Amino acid sequence: MQRGDPGKKLMAAHTGSVLQRWQIYSNIAPFRKPRKPPGREMKSYRELIEQTFEFPQEEFKVWEHELLFNDVPLMDIIKEYGTPLKLTYLPRISENIRFVQATFNNAMERFKYNGKYTYCYCTKSSHFSFVLEEALRNNVHIETSSGFDINIVRSLYERGRITKDTYVVCNGFKMPAYTDNISHLLNDGFHNCIPLLDTLSEIDVYEQKVNVPYSVGIRVASDEEPKFEFYTSRLGIRYSDIVPLFKEKIATSPKASLKMLHFFINTGIKDTAYYWSELSRFIFKYCELRKICDTLDSIDIGGGFPIKTSLTFSYDYKYMIEQIVENIKWICDKNNVPVPNIFTEFGSYTVGESGAILYSVVDQKLQNDKELWYMIDGSFITQMPDAWGLNQKYILLAVNKWDDPYHKVNLGGLTCDSMDYYNSEAHIGEVFLPMINDEERLYIGFFHTGAYQESLGGYGGIQHCLVPAPKHVLVSRNEEGEITTRLFAPEQSSESMMKVLGYSNETPSIAPVEKEISAQREG
Ligand SMILES: Cc1ncc(COP(=O)(O)O)c(C=O)c1O
Repeated sequence: MQRGDPGKKLMAAHTGSVLQRWQIYSNIAPFRKPRKPPGREMKSYRELIEQTFEFPQEEFKVWEHELLFNDVPLMDIIKEYGTPLKLTYLPRISENIRFVQATFNNAMERFKYNGKYTYCYCTKSSHFSFVLEEALRNNVHIETSSGFDINIVRSLYERGRITKDTYVVCNGFKMPAYTDNISHLLNDGFHNCIPLLDTLSEIDVYEQKVNVPYSVGIRVASDEEPKFEFYTSRLGIRYSDIVPLFKEKIATSPKASLKMLHFFINTGIKDTAYYWSELSRFIFKYCELRKICDTLDSIDIGGGFPIKTSLTFSYDYKYMIEQIVENIKWICDKNNVPVPNIFTEFGSYTVGESGAILYSVVDQKLQNDKELWYMIDGSFITQMPDAWGLNQKYILLAVNKWDDPYHKVNLGGLTCDSMDYYNSEAHIGEVFLPMINDEERLYIGFFHTGAYQESLGGYGGIQHCLVPAPKHVLVSRNEEGEITTRLFAPEQSSESMMKVLGYSNETPSIAPVEKEISAQREG
């Protein structure tokens, strides 16, 4: 599929087809009805969007009543694959990574910052192979948070996507399977695997199981934003324990050396007094430790870059990066210590804006005099759990019928749960979408949904009311700019659910647990 620039013919085509389409609605005044006072006509969905937002935008344009996402004609994809459909526009992953890498490098040059920047991808935001493969095309390293992540690291190594020089920054509170896998990785020569100590005793395991010199980091427990229900994060090591941990367990170890100090601010990297004061406190701790530890040469400032979840989104990434680099340098200079190399581990920022979910509006139900429900062929609870659990807003746009009139609707999902709905946008407590008619089915899209939704909602298992996982389509663009698509996975089948639930003759996919249970019974 390839489309040229939408171009200038748009407006001419637009007026004719609007008139044509509006004649379908018997209860609506036609567009530009003679003698109607100006400004009183019912507007089209396109006019609503264009008057409410700066539109078109970089990722969103309209061509002949239909939406383009990163210049990809979504109706073509819907015609080919049908809905419900998850889509990943892979080039966006690389674009975002390269932008941040370039911006950090420029800021370091500008402030004469004598250190390096390393971009790690935080796998928990989307573990899919196609995401990691795209990210790793850009000199990206990896941050992990589970013992099973190490299996992903091994697989990427076997496929030649990473080398033993790739940084593998291992975060999180670690169960034995995780520390074992880390120890094996270190013993196998992955010398840039850096376990970030999350408890005072974690290092004891590595001391026992790792038989080569290895580097560790310490995660600092940051204080949460004042409005939080608790004061300090449960993750990491409290500030006052960091120097004693270093002195007692790392400085005395024949194998371990301290390379990195890490912190993560739960609420993200924001231009607030809270963020800047937590960052400064963290850098002061780095300076204190650096004075007694020569091997400490890096800090990891976590993830937390926001993504565009509304058409009104504005965030100055360049300004924030420059402020971070300048602040770190200023504090280190004051303390006469060398500046650290900077690592980040962006999850949402890497993958969030590559994702979209497309639905059909399959029916409408007027449940009282004013509440109109559009029923979609999917579910918010199972397929966009953040929309349900965190009241997260996404960019919601019609995919077609942009020149049709619109009205206010509630969107309803397929599960029986009354909370399976979506009825407010980021900028307003309402949702407006084109009216439905028999002529053409309405399709809608939620955009920038690429991070965390499968990790939280599950993928391909058993979900509420047995709503199946939708099909997943990958969109790429070759060097000539041509768009190609491929089906990563079809819609989940009933057989796969029957298998998980134990109704099929095949072994359920949680077989090891089943075996363990029977072994225990026999024992
Ligand atoms: C330690 C750590 N690093 C990085 C991230 C990624 O954050 P984000 O997706 O906001 O970039 C998280 C998210 O929870 C995290 O806990």
